[in-house]
Amino acid sequence: MEIIHTIDAMHDAIKKERTNNKRIGFVATMGYLHQGHLSLIHICKQHTDFQVMSIFVNKMQFNDPRDYDTYPRNYDRDFALAKEAGVDLIFLPDDSEMYQNRLTYIDIEMMTSFLCGSARPGHFRGVLTVVAKLFNIVQPDVSVFGQKDIQQAVIIQKMVKDLNFPLAIIVAPIIRESDGLAMSSRNVHLKGDDRTNATCMYQSLKKAEELIQHGIIQANTIIPAMTDIIAAGKPKKIDYISIVDYETLQPVDSLKDKSVIAVAAFFGTTRLIDNMIVEKIGDSFTCVY
Ligand code: PAF
Repeated sequence: MEIIHTIDAMHDAIKKERTNNKRIGFVATMGYLHQGHLSLIHICKQHTDFQVMSIFVNKMQFNDPRDYDTYPRNYDRDFALAKEAGVDLIFLPDDSEMYQNRLTYIDIEMMTSFLCGSARPGHFRGVLTVVAKLFNIVQPDVSVFGQKDIQQAVIIQKMVKDLNFPLAIIVAPIIRESDGLAMSSRNVHLKGDDRTNATCMYQSLKKAEELIQHGIIQANTIIPAMTDIIAAGKPKKIDYISIVDYETLQPVDSLKDKSVIAVAAFFGTTRLIDNMIVEKIGDSFTCVY
């Protein structure tokens, strides 16, 4: 597994793989890898021949400088896990390589100013800008993003479509701990009872599924039932519980053909998110979470 730090060296490495007719797969990360990230590589490998992973803690997407400073980092551990998962090349740039004199940015305000965007102003502008740069640096055929960050996955799909990036985006299922908590690099910050209590996020999605299977599809019934379950887990604050259209991320009164039920809450100082995609197939609804 090769580790590359500069954009020029990346372009050379990718050109070489392309002359060998390799299809390039790409997983963007901020490191501190867990099974969720590795599952993205496994999916990428099913579609492509050469796996690239970026590890870059992107300052531009942190609206809170303390969150950036305390974001967990362990590159040696990441290298070992990535190699074991079959990554061929790691792109590990530093800040100056990525952002010297940068003035250009990408945003889709209509889709980024609410849900996670309200609590984290500027976050998705940072995400879209860095992901667009990484796509131009890595030039992948396929890139895989996790359903866990559903707003991120949906806006990246929209950016790729709107700006005609020549690649396919795959949205991969959420990987969970055995008690249902969605895996996240931030889970390491959960202390004491907060770790156990945080499973109420998953429980609230299960409750929503139960209601949906009983034919209840109205947001004004599903959301209060979920709120009761999350409140019982004693979060410091519930940030949002929303039902939105998958394509536009706009709130809906009742489930449509493809919707997302998304939750965000603080446990201690740690902000956690989780979600479920609900798709109408024929007359019934399928829940994926
Ligand atoms: O999901 C993440 O880890 C980040 O938002 C990403 C996509 C790597 C961009 O920095």
